[in-house]
This record gives sequence, C-alpha cells and structure tokens, in this order.
Amino acid sequence: MDHTKVKTPVISGKNIVQTFGQTKVLNEISIEIYDGDFTVIMGTSGSGKSTLLYCLSGMEQAAGGTILCGNQAITGASEKELTKLRADRFGFVFQKTHLVSNLTLYENIVMSGLIGSGLGEKDVRKRAKELAARMNLQDAADRLPSQVSGGEAQRAAVARAVMGNPAILFADEPTGALNKANTKEVLNLFTKLHEKGQTILLVTHDKEAALRGNRILYIEDGRVISELALSEYGKDKDAREKKLAAWLEGLGW
Ligand SMILES: Nc1ncnc2c1ncn2[C@@H]1O[C@H](COP(=O)(O)OP(=O)(O)O)[C@@H](O)[C@H]1O
Ligand SMILES: [Mg+2]
Repeated sequence: MDHTKVKTPVISGKNIVQTFGQTKVLNEISIEIYDGDFTVIMGTSGSGKSTLLYCLSGMEQAAGGTILCGNQAITGASEKELTKLRADRFGFVFQKTHLVSNLTLYENIVMSGLIGSGLGEKDVRKRAKELAARMNLQDAADRLPSQVSGGEAQRAAVARAVMGNPAILFADEPTGALNKANTKEVLNLFTKLHEKGQTILLVTHDKEAALRGNRILYIEDGRVISELALSEYGKDKDAREKKLAAWLEGLGW
C-alpha cells in the first residue's frame, strides 16, 4: 500500500435515504468523497443521481442517514448553517448556467466573489480576471450571457463556481445542454481544475464526461451498485476508455 496516497474524505454519507411520497429514491447509500478526487456518479435517468448530489451538498435534506462535511453535520443542520456551508465550502454548476442576464460574464464572476469569497473588491476583480483567462474566455468575458456561445457561458458558470475556492465543486450534468465542441471545452476545464487539486463531484450520463474522472460510481434503484477506479486522464487513453466501456457494458449500460 502506498501510504503517501491515503485519502481524506471531504464528505462522508452513511445510509442516506431520500423518499418522495412512497418512492425511496435513495436507498441507504453510503458514500465518501475524497479530497483531490474527481468522482463521477453515473446511472440511468431517474436513478437518483441529482437527488444524491442535492443531499450531499445540503441543497435538500435527506430523509434518513447522516452526512458530514469535516466536522459539520449536513443532515439535521439549520437552513442558516447550510446556506453558510454552501457559500463557504461548495461550488455548483448545473445544466443551466443561471447567469445573471444583464451582467457580463466577467461581472457575473465578480459578483459571486463579492458575495462568497471573503476577499475585498480589488482582490475579487483580480481573481475574476485570472479565472476568466484560465477558462479561455478572452473577449467573451465582456459580453452578456445572451451574446456568447453555450460553452462560453458554461465556462463562466464554472469560473463563478470556483471563485470562492470551494472544498468541493459539485456539477450536475454540466455539459447536458452543450454541443460536442463546447462539451469538450468545458470538460477540459474540469480536467484542468482537477489537475490543480480541485475536488470535483460530477453527475453525468455521458461517457466522455465520465472519462475525466479517476473514480466512477454507478447508481441504480437508489444504491451504489458498482465502483471503478481509473488512472488520471491524459495517460493510457485507450486503456482507460476500454476499461470504462467494459465496466459500463457489464452494468447493462
Ligand atoms: N422533488 C421531487 N419530488 C418528487 N419526485 C422527485 C423529486 N425529485 C426527484 N424525484 C424523483 O426521484 C427519482 C430520481 O430523480 P433524480 O435524482 O432527478 O434522477 P437522475 O438525476 O438520476 O435522473 C425520479 O423518479 C424523480 O422523478
Ligand atoms: Mg439528474
């Protein structure tokens, strides 16, 4: 065993249950998300992927089980505690960007920094500029969301999500509304963030997106039914692709 690579959980969930009416959408899921990992959750539509993400991030209260982020309990926390936890420690990206339509991409990123990063305005503007550059936004940064491509808008949403240096970046189908070229650009960005140490939890049913991760979980009927470890993206491309494809095939994908 390589003791230099012992992983620290950022979030630990035990026996998480979520019910809607009579349906158990999450059926006693136990899951740990480790620091520095790019964890991917796969599963068919309706399998409970989004629900799991919402429960882990405290956007929804689970009906049962315990979820901890460090020593902060997410299950049972007050709305006020959860709001603070989400603002201080989490970043979110969804299929829709939810950018403010009358602000430029740059101003959208700045606004999130002014609200959540704890930095002064000058430092926020500096960090927003650096992030916009890292997201390859160039002159698109000075345009409104309606005047840029879907990929540019989503890259701005990612910049906004990491503005406050979140402990975890949660992403729910972030490429679900994008064409192939834009999908690739957004995924490249996730890879870049992961290489810099960003912990990511990505929900997807896209194989290309899943390939970016180093740990893939498959959920079905509200349970994690299988897990796959992958080497880092960028090395052994063919071997990784084959490994993922064979695993998914075995799951009846
Ligand atoms: N707020 C809700 N109220 C009722 N049913 C819900 C709600 N959210 C999700 N569901 C149901 O829970 C199941 C899992 O949904 P979801 O987590 O969105 O799946 P996925 O993201 O894997 O497609 C689906 O059957 C969905 O209809
Ligand atoms: Mg979903």
